[in-house]
Amino acid sequence: MLASVLVYYTFLGAALCDSTAKLRFFSRSTDDFLELSLETAHDVFKSSWYNSSRNTVIFAHGFTGYPEGPAVSAVINSYLDRGDSNVVLLNWKEMAASIYPNIANSYLRWAAPNARKLGAIFAETLSNMSAAGFDLNKTHLVGHSLGAHIFGIAGNTLLQRGVILPWITGLDPAGVGFESRPPAGRLNANSADFVSVIHTDPSKYGFKRQLGTVDFWPNYRINRPVLQPGCDNRTFAAFSKEDLCSHNRCWELLIDAMKHPGTIIGSYAKNYRKWKNNSQQDREVIVLELGVHDIKAVPGDYFLMTSARSPYGLGREGL
Ligand SMILES: *[C@@H]1O[C@H](CO)[C@@H](O)[C@H](O)[C@H]1NC(C)=O
Ligand SMILES: *[C@@H]1O[C@H](CO)[C@@H](O)[C@H](O)[C@H]1NC(C)=O
Ligand SMILES: *[C@@H]1O[C@H](CO)[C@@H](O)[C@H](O)[C@H]1NC(C)=O
Ligand SMILES: *[C@@H]1O[C@H](CO)[C@@H](O)[C@H](O)[C@H]1NC(C)=O
Ligand SMILES: *[C@@H]1O[C@H](CO)[C@@H](O)[C@H](O)[C@H]1NC(C)=O
Repeated sequence: MLASVLVYYTFLGAALCDSTAKLRFFSRSTDDFLELSLETAHDVFKSSWYNSSRNTVIFAHGFTGYPEGPAVSAVINSYLDRGDSNVVLLNWKEMAASIYPNIANSYLRWAAPNARKLGAIFAETLSNMSAAGFDLNKTHLVGHSLGAHIFGIAGNTLLQRGVILPWITGLDPAGVGFESRPPAGRLNANSADFVSVIHTDPSKYGFKRQLGTVDFWPNYRINRPVLQPGCDNRTFAAFSKEDLCSHNRCWELLIDAMKHPGTIIGSYAKNYRKWKNNSQQDREVIVLELGVHDIKAVPGDYFLMTSARSPYGLGREGL
């Protein structure tokens, strides 16, 4: 009874306030952090936490994500291990939670609308942080699934005021609830100066079309659902770990690309059919490493194959 009353008030609170999202500022490890509400987040940029000579990576999880969850732990730990960036999590776990008995309803009626709302709010937060000394020009926003659209919408909102974010990475940006939206309501190639996207589940949870400056399509195939190697093709309960296997592969690829530089590369082609028909030599003409910021990259689609388990990269063999 008490628990249900608390739950009721928690969500009532969420509906009344602007947001319950927080920013978690990490120091050396995932247990070593300071967490502030979006309204007060700018205070940290006056403190010694912020190293202004470094880039700042901000990660946003997707539906049902939370700080101790697999995606957040893996991504945050990778950036902390690399040790060259300020590392931040957009912790919007309450707004991203499954709150109805029916998980699909939770996604459609709670998490997806919250993501859209939070995108606009987060643009304000970034403006506040910028005014407090945070260098927006040295940021990399990395969002998984709904998180990709939060950052896309934030970038679109800032663009309307003449502020261009340098780099957004969309990790299998969510398809459901966004596929038919106009570009302003989702991640798009103008959400930042450079938008890199990794599409690992375009048949089911991920967005089906091009969204970025450069779009990577690992293990793409046509006329059949894209199933990442190592994922089981049987039918599982919606949103179960097995069902999300291809959707989660995107962040595993990003992490592997950091751990094993130069191993995950894509080959540019006008479209998948052209790539299929290209010889190995043709495929090596225009290549791009996944996860890197390359402002000179040829915009468009990049195709590649990967192995079934980490290390996923096959180098030139995967072209
Ligand atoms: C921006 O900062 C002001 C002043 O501290 C605060 O009232 C407001 O809530 C902040 N906005 C966001 C979206 O964090
Ligand atoms: C800030 O970051 C730079 C670049 O990574 C590093 O050399 C320097 O030691 C850092 N400063 C502090 C106070 O940690
Ligand atoms: C960011 O870069 C743009 C141009 O690249 C520049 O006009 C702007 O002043 C920079 N902003 C900050 C806060 O340094
Ligand atoms: C699943 O994989 C098995 C074995 O590779 C294959 O025989 C079967 O046709 C696949 N089923 C679907 C629905 O793709
Ligand atoms: C496939 O490649 C061959 C040899 O390069 C070329 O002649 C042919 O036009 C290509 N077909 C398509 C559909 O691109």
